Amino acid sequence: AKESFIRKPGDPLRVWAHRGGSSAAPENTAASDEVARRGRAEWIENDVQPTKDGVPVILHDDTVDRTTDGTGAVRNLTAAQVAGLDAGSWFAPAFTGQRVPTLGQQLDGLKTRGGNLLLEVKGAHTRDSVARIVTEIRDRSMTSRVFVQSFEPQHLRWMHELAPELPLGLLRSTLDPDPVAIAKDLGLSAYNPSDAAFRTRPGIVAELHAQGVAVNVWTVDDATRWNSLEKAGVDGIITNRPAELYGWNSAF
Ligand code: G3P
Ligand code: CA
Repeated sequence: AKESFIRKPGDPLRVWAHRGGSSAAPENTAASDEVARRGRAEWIENDVQPTKDGVPVILHDDTVDRTTDGTGAVRNLTAAQVAGLDAGSWFAPAFTGQRVPTLGQQLDGLKTRGGNLLLEVKGAHTRDSVARIVTEIRDRSMTSRVFVQSFEPQHLRWMHELAPELPLGLLRSTLDPDPVAIAKDLGLSAYNPSDAAFRTRPGIVAELHAQGVAVNVWTVDDATRWNSLEKAGVDGIITNRPAELYGWNSAF
């Protein structure tokens, strides 16, 4: 059986660092990883998309425009073109020289420096691009340190076929009519709603827990809300402020 991601009584909320420590460093870069690691986040969330030549790279938007000094859709750029972009100066001059990591580089960094990866399969993927992600993970023997999430059920179905050992989470910005049914259908380890969606029906925690499925809520940066969510029994929080959540957890 796969590891359970349900929080045990008395345990702190699991800290998932959204795009790394992205409030203090450029998102989805080695610099934001470092912030998350210093904040003792166990898990770093990154988004992964394929380049034109099929290399999985760590980038949130469909285009490189917002988070690099380049322009264009990532699906129209080669990995070499993406590797030449600056992914830090948009955030602050001190971060000039940060790069868009490939998934392989990201996994290498986590393997050497510590931490686990919450990998969001983002944007346009094919079965082949999902298979390439699996290869990168398996080649580095990192399957026990990766959790995969997506808004797209099809991406999770491919992932389940290709790598049944990886735990899966479904992202939702509105709740499904029957979260338990979809969790069973997709073989989910976690159901990950936005905070706004979660507020509409906090009772899903008990329903999903009864089926062994964890609930992680995103993206929550505020201690008042952490408190309410802890009381509601959720398992983890995806946050831009991992160090602060870790500190709040420790003081709790
Ligand atoms: O992990 C939840 C969150 O990452 C989903 O939204 O847009 O930040 O990828 P987004
Ligand atoms: Ca994401």
